[in-house]
Amino acid sequence: MKIVTVVGARPQFIKAAAVNRAIHQWNKKKKRIREILVHTGQHYDVLMDKVFFEELALPRPNYHLGVGSGSHAEQTGMMLERIEAVLKKEKPMVVMVYGDTNSTLAGALAAAKLNIPVAHVEAGLRSDDRTMPEEINRLLTDHVSTFLFCPTDQAIQNLLREGIEDEKTRKVKNVGDVMYDSILHYSKLAEEKSTVLKDLNLYFSTPNSEHRTQNYYLATLHRAENTDDPKRLRSILKALDELGRKMPVIFPLHPRTKKMMNASHLLSRFKNIKCMEPVSYLNMLKLEKNAEAILTDSGGVQKEAYWLRTPCVTLREVTEWGYTVKEGWNMVSGWRTFDILQAIQKLSILKKRRKKEIGQQRGAGEAIVRFLSQWSL
Ligand code: UD1
Ligand code: UDP
Repeated sequence: MKIVTVVGARPQFIKAAAVNRAIHQWNKKKKRIREILVHTGQHYDVLMDKVFFEELALPRPNYHLGVGSGSHAEQTGMMLERIEAVLKKEKPMVVMVYGDTNSTLAGALAAAKLNIPVAHVEAGLRSDDRTMPEEINRLLTDHVSTFLFCPTDQAIQNLLREGIEDEKTRKVKNVGDVMYDSILHYSKLAEEKSTVLKDLNLYFSTPNSEHRTQNYYLATLHRAENTDDPKRLRSILKALDELGRKMPVIFPLHPRTKKMMNASHLLSRFKNIKCMEPVSYLNMLKLEKNAEAILTDSGGVQKEAYWLRTPCVTLREVTEWGYTVKEGWNMVSGWRTFDILQAIQKLSILKKRRKKEIGQQRGAGEAIVRFLSQWSL
């Protein structure tokens, strides 16, 4: 079976790595699956792209479409045109797309118009906020997909609400979360290899010269709703700066955020925030695991915080990952300085609600590969 996998943005490299590994395992003992990797080029900075291919041991893309940045229409249009050319040449049995970026939508649409079945990994998520570009991407991708690989039962329910259900011509399955596969696989490596805590001076020596990790907050921000509104951006940064008076706030900057902070002359204004370049996946896992708390608007980082048992404040009005909130590990604060600071204070109250065990099945990558292989027979 030939699969074309379309990726383009940082979190997609992490998700696709889990399935790529499962394909390798499958090929060792069963029928051969050939995966053709297509990189749209949506993310291209070395620290958003190459670093992940190296660390995750992802193969070099068979096709790099070099699309780069642009408006939604420019970016998606260019991707559509170039993906279509690849699909016409490769004639795969299925096209696999991940998440909710413009690369996801372009891959799904190009395939669907050529009558090639689309497999959507991380299907069924909804924020019910159609002003989010990601919500539009998810809705459209799900509606043209043949295989909807959901990470939660909630996602299945969301699809049902829209009339998408498991039937003869369309398969909807809860396979678990491929990002959980990745975190299980790479956490150990992060422990062994990452020196980020030392590099950032987050260790201190106790009187008996034992090394301990200093308490710190970890923050990430990149959603358009936060970065592209100067009022919101300033308000969030003010909260981080306030927290930075008590303990270090480590803030790896997404290029979009850096650009917007520069444009509003905010980059050097908040002295208590430790701004830095994006960090690698292994360094990120190490930082997430050892943080006092995480503040983020990232979907992936919220889940990782939950899996690593680090309390999290979500800098948005909603989250697609309701279980992290229900189980007391995540608090949705919005963007106002006061609300963010309150949420950080309230995190400790949530402790009582927290279950020790992680409600998450492993092996999402394997389940996807098994399912597609059986279908292709
Ligand atoms: C995209 C996804 C978002 C996902 C995020 C993961 C869409 C609509 N958004 O957002 O869902 O959560 O990726 O990180 O697809 N830039 C660089 N270098 C890069 C990449 C981007 O400088 O390597 C800058 C450019 O100025 C660009 C801006 O960041 O215009 C935004 O990049 P883009 O890929 O359009 O969206 P993201 O914000 O990265
Ligand atoms: N990540 C990383 N380095 C960083 C910030 C994030 O490796 O500096 C990883 C993070 O651990 C997670 C993924 O990138 O696995 C999340 O991607 P992002 O926040 O860009 O997108 P989202 O998940 O919101 O779509």
